[in-house]
Amino acid sequence: MTNKITCYLVGMILLIMAACEQPAATNELDSKVSNLLSEMTLEEKIGQMNLYNGFWSITGPPPAEGDAANKYQHLEEGSVGAMLNIHGVENVRKIQEIAVNNSRLGIPVLFGYDVIHGYKTLSPIPLAEAASWDMDAIEGSARIAAIEAAAAGINWTFAPMMDISRDARWGRVMEGGGEDPFLGSRIAAARVKGFQGNDLSATNTIIACAKHFAGYGFAEAGRDYNTVDIGTVTLYNEVLPPFKVAVDNGVRTVMNSFNILNGIPANGDRFLQRDILKQAWSFGGFVVSDWSSGREMINHGYARDLRHVAELAANAGSDMDMESYAYINHLKALVDSGQVDMSVIDDAVKRILKVKFELGLFDDPYKYCDPERERELVYHDAHQEAVLDMARKSIVLLKNENNLLPLQKGSQKIAVIGALADDNNSPLGSWRISSDDSTAVSVLKGLEPYKDQISYAKGADLITGPATFLQKVPINESDKSGFNEAIRLARRSDIVVMVLGEHGFQSGEGRSRTKLDLPGVQQELLEAVFEVNQNIVLVLMNGRPLAIPWAAEHIPAILETWHLGSQSGNAIAQVLFGDHNPGGKLPMSFPRSVGQVPISYNRYNTGRPDALDLVFWSTYTDESIEPLFPFGYGLSYTSFDYSDLSVEVTGENQVSVEVTVTNKGKVAGEEVTQLYIRDVVASVVRPIKELKGFQKYSLDPGQSRNVVFQLTEAELGFYDGAGNYHVEPGEFEIMVGTSSKEGLNGNFTL
Ligand code: BGC
Repeated sequence: MTNKITCYLVGMILLIMAACEQPAATNELDSKVSNLLSEMTLEEKIGQMNLYNGFWSITGPPPAEGDAANKYQHLEEGSVGAMLNIHGVENVRKIQEIAVNNSRLGIPVLFGYDVIHGYKTLSPIPLAEAASWDMDAIEGSARIAAIEAAAAGINWTFAPMMDISRDARWGRVMEGGGEDPFLGSRIAAARVKGFQGNDLSATNTIIACAKHFAGYGFAEAGRDYNTVDIGTVTLYNEVLPPFKVAVDNGVRTVMNSFNILNGIPANGDRFLQRDILKQAWSFGGFVVSDWSSGREMINHGYARDLRHVAELAANAGSDMDMESYAYINHLKALVDSGQVDMSVIDDAVKRILKVKFELGLFDDPYKYCDPERERELVYHDAHQEAVLDMARKSIVLLKNENNLLPLQKGSQKIAVIGALADDNNSPLGSWRISSDDSTAVSVLKGLEPYKDQISYAKGADLITGPATFLQKVPINESDKSGFNEAIRLARRSDIVVMVLGEHGFQSGEGRSRTKLDLPGVQQELLEAVFEVNQNIVLVLMNGRPLAIPWAAEHIPAILETWHLGSQSGNAIAQVLFGDHNPGGKLPMSFPRSVGQVPISYNRYNTGRPDALDLVFWSTYTDESIEPLFPFGYGLSYTSFDYSDLSVEVTGENQVSVEVTVTNKGKVAGEEVTQLYIRDVVASVVRPIKELKGFQKYSLDPGQSRNVVFQLTEAELGFYDGAGNYHVEPGEFEIMVGTSSKEGLNGNFTL
């Protein structure tokens, strides 16, 4: 198998290199686009500005006009720019044939799909991948998703989501890179590169979509689709950076968002889409609306009716309408009446056509439709190996008192408890609409090599019926009939591995929660088992940070495994038994209670910072303001010592930082060294800490490494409320260490 995988990977590299030798000539491309545009009628131009749902399910209310028959007619009339939710070579070819053979100009259709963390072979959910802090691995994971999706006819993924969020109540945190704009920007770049590769005309690359533009992750109270009201300092410094980086890395599409941002629905926001994205950032791709985010402007109270929606959205720079049926039904009349200028239409259509040319669809509209390639590449063995590696890297060790982990091979009697341990569906996570159900390796399956040591008791069901993407998950809130069996098993075991957490479909779109505890009866089960055996390893599975203060205090070992995708159980077993030393670090703070949320490490100091037991300070009367587990935190089976921090200003806005890191333990391990700064006094108040650099590397026992960072203007400045970037002279504090909480402190003056 290894040879086969090597051949496959070499083949892929050669294919990409060959494609790279022919860079696209921009002028030639522009004239192709202009020539085609000059042949198009207004109706055909408007036709390109529509994205229709296929015949799969939907994530929002279906519009009345959205019936399948109309779509065939639209295809024949050349009024379909793109379709979503159609996949599989055979289906894609069928639709493409109608567009190419039956419409007057034969313009091929784009096929978009939510390939969020894999097509069939699933990587960990994006939040889990973010915990790896490993940009090569993240890029590789997106590459695999692109290879499989492209082989199945898809040429456009609605990913990556790059919404920064500090609110674990919001279910969509599972889809993003966490709470920090610096880490989030690096991840955004890695994912865009992974999906799009170096050459879009290759058959194994697809266009990416930076979403959701913008502010969606700041939904009030963590309630999905809710109002967003943030200042422009937050917008420029926290929300926009990953999008800017995605644009700089050539992302071909950007999706706007459902929310209003400071009173304007994103789909109708000219400032965001025209002034910032297209003008200030020179974005050359096209903007797509979110599902019916046009039509929803009526509910928001911003548009009177669908015609008004079309006018506002097109003029604001939203180029393609996903499932609102506003453009197809109203744009022509708006152009005829002069309410939408022809130049608006031409600009949008040029952007869309350009992407189609870049993909090579005019040369071969069926380039993604090779059944042989689909058979060969979907679920390829090499992809399983790669997602296993990604899964191992995503695991975070939160606690390990008395080195309870790793488990000892052969010598310990181990009880495994929890319904999630025997689940091969939930670990696939949310947002995986193309995947096959129940194709994950369960924890029990992963532990099979140790079956002589292991006994299993479920303890309690997590769900009381089927859990699906389109329904609320039915959680078992009362049935504890399995508790006794689990307690008996725990009593006669040396050690207990409890696999608890959220069902895979408890996070994701529309999955906001007001509680961040272990759902259902799991907390009670944990405490009941603890009464008879305290040697517990808690394996957490969840799509968002959880508030688990009791477990953090009482349970000696805690492993955060998120929803790790296809190879979940194998990755967990390898970490439990020490075949892989965990090196992940949290990309989001874990709160102590829901009352602390939103919470992030890069908060402001306030005028009344934490003052222990005093009253009139910016604290809580019943809880610390510190998180349970901070951003950037994660342990290892070894330990790393930090020494010899040196900080030197080497030129104008140039700072060199060095630190020595030594592996003090007995096993090799991976560390992520993180660098944080604070601009002590600034014309716009800066957070108490901001991540500005990180490096991941491996050290053998006893080995040391000199870790060097060079800070430049790009890291030392900030945006003011008008979007101007400043690096201001003055004093800076710096911390370099193993998490946002722990490190060596220094300072420098610019
Ligand atoms: C989501 C988008 C997604 C779209 C299409 C919407 O509900 O917000 O992220 O790409 O559906 O499935």
